[in-house]
Amino acid sequence: MKGKEIPFTKDQIEKIIEKHPTPFHIYDEKRMVEYANYFVDAFSWNEGFKEFYAIKAAPNPYLMKVLRNQGFGIDCSSMAELVLAEKVGMRGEEIMFTSNDTPDYEFQKAVELGAIINLDDISHIDYLEKSASMPELVCFRYNPGALKGGNIIIGNPEDSKYGFTREQLFEGYKKLKNKGVKRFGIHTMVASNELDSDYFIETAGIVFDTIVDISKEVGIHFEFANLGGGIGIPYKNEHKPVDLIKVSTGIKDLYEKMIVANNLAPLKIFFESGRAITGPFGYLVSKVLHLKETYKKYVGLDSCMANLMRPALYGSYHHITVMGKENESCNSLYDVTGSLCENNDKFAINRLLPKIEVGDIIVMHDTGAHGHSMGFNYNGKLRSAELLLREDGSVKEIRRAETLEDLFATLDFDGLDNFKV
Ligand SMILES: Cc1ncc(COP(=O)(O)O)c(C=O)c1O
Repeated sequence: MKGKEIPFTKDQIEKIIEKHPTPFHIYDEKRMVEYANYFVDAFSWNEGFKEFYAIKAAPNPYLMKVLRNQGFGIDCSSMAELVLAEKVGMRGEEIMFTSNDTPDYEFQKAVELGAIINLDDISHIDYLEKSASMPELVCFRYNPGALKGGNIIIGNPEDSKYGFTREQLFEGYKKLKNKGVKRFGIHTMVASNELDSDYFIETAGIVFDTIVDISKEVGIHFEFANLGGGIGIPYKNEHKPVDLIKVSTGIKDLYEKMIVANNLAPLKIFFESGRAITGPFGYLVSKVLHLKETYKKYVGLDSCMANLMRPALYGSYHHITVMGKENESCNSLYDVTGSLCENNDKFAINRLLPKIEVGDIIVMHDTGAHGHSMGFNYNGKLRSAELLLREDGSVKEIRRAETLEDLFATLDFDGLDNFKV
């Protein structure tokens, strides 16, 4: 079986399972930190460069603490994510607040924390001012519409609910200027899980072009361009990771030609990647509970869609390793399933794997982003624990598994006695 990298041996994971029963997600701190350094180094030419980790990808304070130590900020899009940032000790311009359809109390919290506020719509200028106050630094999310193609996860920019049109940007920045706003940023996020390096360079070009035009017409200086998230990861063996050096070199070239040449430097480059930062370094570890043979062969795991929804939601591919059978040939065809009462609760359909036995340890790769965090409780399934494999080989439980008490905490069973029917 052709392998992907795994940071533990069968013996090691068996020892971990003795203490932490399956299913669980486990994250590899060493490789996560190495990637974080590679990301920051790739853009070292740009003074003030910052990656704001999109915390929705893996909202765990321990992971955030590791990433903050590498100089990362945090990208939040909800009240819970803002509070999480606060609990990690993050404040001010370490936080980017990129939300949409935002309620007033979230703007209030973002302003209270001093976060950089990224508005999704022109009507939110007045709404922000009314519900909280107008900060001195404001950013708009740009939706370039037909200028950019989309993909299956995020859709076509023109059909996407996010962001301002180009015309609205001009109007919006003029309005901010008239309201006395002094500092400006621009943001765009038009791709998700994109593996083509040129895509990010092209996006930067579109944003830089917009900056040139708006700066001239409105007479403002942009402090930063946030190029969003969306950097893809090689879920399949044949995929190649995005070459960040190539992306950075291409963006630098455009920066010289468009930003420096128009006297618009310095301009800080920001990203708010989630998937690329933690995705490849997380693994969902499960055990085989049942084998079933009807019209097809099924492998039933002790995990389900509550632990990893991406295959059911988008038909996404996650590579599977059967621990200890890495060198066996893959000549058994299986659907690998969970236990939800939904037929799409399948991690893999028609997947060729080594012959599987009950009790085998199954490792699902690349679950470190949009994995545990997308979990849900349908059928009363409980979300699993999260573990961190530390650089010294030790294991820290960074989130315990949910219990039935957690699940029922919002129900008032005592009230049943007085409830007459
Ligand atoms: C506004 C915003 N920023 C960043 C991200 C992170 O995207 P990714 O994890 O693909 O890098 C998302 C993903 O949904 C997003 O909606």
